[in-house]
Amino acid sequence: MKLWAGRFSKEIDKKTNDFNSSISFDSRMYREDIEGSMAHAEMIGECGIIEKSESQAIIEGLKGILADIDNGNLQIDMNAEDIHTFIEGELTQRLGQTGKRLHTARSRNDQVAVDIRLYLKKEVQNIKKQVKELIGVICNKAEEYAGAVMPGYTHLQRAQPITFGHHLMAYAEMLLRDVDRLECAYRHMDEMPLGSGALATTTYPIDRTITAKLLNFDRVSQNSLDGVSDRDFCMELASALSIIMVHLSRFSEEIIMWCSWEFKFVELDDAFSTGSSIMPQKKNPDIAELVRGKSGRVFGDLMTLLTVMKGIALAYNKDMQEDKEAIFDAVDTVKMCLTAFTPMIKCA
Ligand code: ARG
Repeated sequence: MKLWAGRFSKEIDKKTNDFNSSISFDSRMYREDIEGSMAHAEMIGECGIIEKSESQAIIEGLKGILADIDNGNLQIDMNAEDIHTFIEGELTQRLGQTGKRLHTARSRNDQVAVDIRLYLKKEVQNIKKQVKELIGVICNKAEEYAGAVMPGYTHLQRAQPITFGHHLMAYAEMLLRDVDRLECAYRHMDEMPLGSGALATTTYPIDRTITAKLLNFDRVSQNSLDGVSDRDFCMELASALSIIMVHLSRFSEEIIMWCSWEFKFVELDDAFSTGSSIMPQKKNPDIAELVRGKSGRVFGDLMTLLTVMKGIALAYNKDMQEDKEAIFDAVDTVKMCLTAFTPMIKCA
């Protein structure tokens, strides 16, 4: 039964449900959805909008659901419309009518807006850590090769002598700016949208500062239409991630050239190279090539987000459900690339 089934006389068509559903890709936000719901339940309890005992029961129920998903005792139902519907449905099955009280003074529109912010805030921190680790590895290599003279190039023609250490440190500078861009995207997503409701807030006497504090947000959003329909932070993050990929791709291109017989400047460790079954002279820089190739995916994700957002009237529109696959793919891809790239440089 859908949350909104009250005014409908028929079940949704099966294939339409599959098309409409986001559970296959938003189920990864189950933890954030539950955290957001626990904070909301606590706040409406504290403000006297529901009974304190109901608020407690809801929080305990949600804790149980989180533990059950974490330890594999509860499977997320892929026929559910989205993760919000699934968690609330499960809670209502466990608690009866009390479970339904959770949705008092909120909408899925402000719920999804808080979930995605919570999810991406964690991922930005993870990626920042990975970028800083790569900067550390580059600095160590640069120190090791501080005195190694090499040709510096313009137009890929030998120009003036430089050191390999100096060349490497150019990448450290790029990555330091990347850290800055990630921090900027983080600042913009550090805003708590609950209380925006569907678009026009709620008439219940809520206290948004309580939820913001419980969820560790820096501040509350100021305009309810913007609160539910802002995805700037997704576009900004995808843009910061795209620029990281530009840098990794450029670095990869140089490594690929330097590994060739024509240059022979560097040799990659065996653990980070591949060979050929019929050409034993070959040692291929596959990892660098893949990183260079994967940059296209992340640029595509940015283009998806810009295009999804550019033509929709305020406030929430279903188009915005398309934000998740794009930003998750960009996040996953950059994390994977850094996981492979950093040890490759470290061991070269
Ligand atoms: N699955 C939806 C999304 O990701 C959640 C919000 C649904 N809101 C609505 N009014 N249909 O955007």
